Amino acid sequence: MNQPRRYANVTVVDHPLVQHKLTLMRDKERSTKSFRQLLNEIGMLLCYEVTRDLEMTTCEIETPICPMQAPILAGKKLTFAPILRAGVGFLDGMLELVPSARVAHIGLYRDPGTLQAVEYYFKAPSDVAERQIIVMDPMLATANSAVAAIDLLKQRGARDLRFVCLLAAPEGVAHFTASHPDVPIWTAAIDEKLNEHGYIVPGLGDAGDRMFGTR
Ligand code: PRP
Ligand code: URA
Repeated sequence: MNQPRRYANVTVVDHPLVQHKLTLMRDKERSTKSFRQLLNEIGMLLCYEVTRDLEMTTCEIETPICPMQAPILAGKKLTFAPILRAGVGFLDGMLELVPSARVAHIGLYRDPGTLQAVEYYFKAPSDVAERQIIVMDPMLATANSAVAAIDLLKQRGARDLRFVCLLAAPEGVAHFTASHPDVPIWTAAIDEKLNEHGYIVPGLGDAGDRMFGTR
């Protein structure tokens, strides 16, 4: 396989635990239960990376020994925005680390004929303009779904956005960064290409179907 290309604005999370779990997920014999569990675990690890540079301040506390100025998060409140259905697979792992985050649900499916994203649900906190929003979906293939999700959030005033996925195609990265150059991407891998049906190669198949046991 080709070495993954490097793109400005894209962080490839090459942590050994992430790469190991991703390999397990790619295996077509992996059970639905195990696939879902691994996606949840990788969600947690990716959350750690995507929140690495959150703004900090200090606050005064008293330990049992003495008072101190201790570091604490300062930045805007976080909102997690999974793209339905498969994005939900990341959510529990991310909420384990940031339990107070709000959640925006973005319902989009990819028309299998046109590969265009079709919207069927959208519900987000009313103050998205004041929030830092982490949009999540395991797969960035053509990027039509991710671009549409960011469009919907920007239409409601969101400005501080990040996108997290498990696998990206080079075509999807190019489309996404051309459409939303202000939104950085975190991914566990950039695969080789898309096939004629818009699936990532080598990829892992249909993430939603594998997660929920549908076809
Ligand atoms: C999958 C995946 C992304 C989208 C990626 O969703 O979860 O949302 O395809 O493809 P794209 O980058 O070409 O838009 P799908 O439409 O299969 O819906 P599902 O999550 O409900 O299965
Ligand atoms: N959606 C998926 O779930 N997998 C792909 O490879 C492409 C789009």
